[in-house]
Amino acid sequence: MTTTLQFKYDVKDISLAAQGKQRIEWAGREMPVLRQIQDRFAAEKPLAGIRISACCHVTTETAHLAIALKAGGADAVLIASNPLSTQDDVAASLVADYGIPVFALRGEDSATYHRHVETALDHRPNIIIDDGSDVVATLVKERQAQLSDIIGTTEETTTGIVRLRAMFKDGVLSFPAMNVNDADTKHFFDNRYGTGQSTLDGIIRATNVLLAGKTVVVAGYGWCGKGTAMRAKGMGANVVVTEIDPVRAIEAVMDGFRVMPMAKAAQVGDLFITVTGNKHVIRREHFEAMKDGAMVCNSGHFDIEIDLESLGAMASEVKQVRNFTQQYMLTSGKSVIVLGEGRLVNLAAAEGHPSAVMDMSFANQAMACEYLVKNRGSLEPGLHSIPVEVDKEIARLKLVAMGIEVDSLTPEQEIYINSWTVGT
Ligand code: ADE
Repeated sequence: MTTTLQFKYDVKDISLAAQGKQRIEWAGREMPVLRQIQDRFAAEKPLAGIRISACCHVTTETAHLAIALKAGGADAVLIASNPLSTQDDVAASLVADYGIPVFALRGEDSATYHRHVETALDHRPNIIIDDGSDVVATLVKERQAQLSDIIGTTEETTTGIVRLRAMFKDGVLSFPAMNVNDADTKHFFDNRYGTGQSTLDGIIRATNVLLAGKTVVVAGYGWCGKGTAMRAKGMGANVVVTEIDPVRAIEAVMDGFRVMPMAKAAQVGDLFITVTGNKHVIRREHFEAMKDGAMVCNSGHFDIEIDLESLGAMASEVKQVRNFTQQYMLTSGKSVIVLGEGRLVNLAAAEGHPSAVMDMSFANQAMACEYLVKNRGSLEPGLHSIPVEVDKEIARLKLVAMGIEVDSLTPEQEIYINSWTVGT
């Protein structure tokens, strides 16, 4: 940890700031909605005096969220939500050019990650912006005395929402949590088009393999799975989907994919992508059934979907064959290739979702913080949807920025659509 510039921070190399600033500015070209919110925040200061601890992937896009929060008057600190996703140049620039304390080092070990979670809580946040809910879980488990400082939290991952629901069910979530993930302007675009494109981007950067003609197994057909399957199909892959939910399984079939259990898919797949949010979706019995040289990777939030411990136990040697690409030489004589150490391949081997979708996700995050402050003291504990007017306004601003016009209802249609008396 270093203290210059009047505040503490922990980044890999502050001299990377100039490169980081250039990349942050580039991302800003595709983030017009967040930019408008930033400009309004700068004028209105809706977050004046509010301490915010954000635990996000430290990327060029997150930089714009942090800058917008600061413009709104917040006293914000940023930590990494994943050890492999930090862009060290961005972390350096946020500190040196934008005066935002960042605690994030690409490749940080688990102890450092947890130390940074503690640092986020030492900031005594009023609002926690969480990605995966580790900061909130630590607060609830270890920092009860700080609960009185909390106005609320915002969460943008499916994984984090599942954990918050479990906390609420167990009676330990005593403050409001804004469900950013479920906003239409978040999951329709970020989870689907963002994960879809960036996952394939990560796989291609890591391996340079041709997807056309490959059998790609996508585990999970939520929004991230839908986007990943759609984009893999677009690249010419034969896509197989595995699911546990019967409705989603039918959806995948009707979208044109083969659906089967992982035990069968393991035998036919060339490349496996997990996006379920659950644990050990690919495990020993599946590795045993795989073809020689099969590749596995994960785009779900945590690195629990692929049982790497079992794979390690099956291997006599692990070779680093390219950046982000490890070949496990199995005692059976076959090999399995793991990308990005089983962590989010789109952030480990590429740069995460493109700025144009993060624009809407982070517009939701910024507006959710403002909403929490405006409604301080009046929101019940538990999960809250992003108000529909906010969601629609973000979509409207995005359309304007994209130069796309849409129709509006005529007075006659307005009456018709709101009435029940006119039938056939
Ligand atoms: N999650 C996925 N992609 C991201 C990005 N580019 N920035 C921040 N969080 C992300």
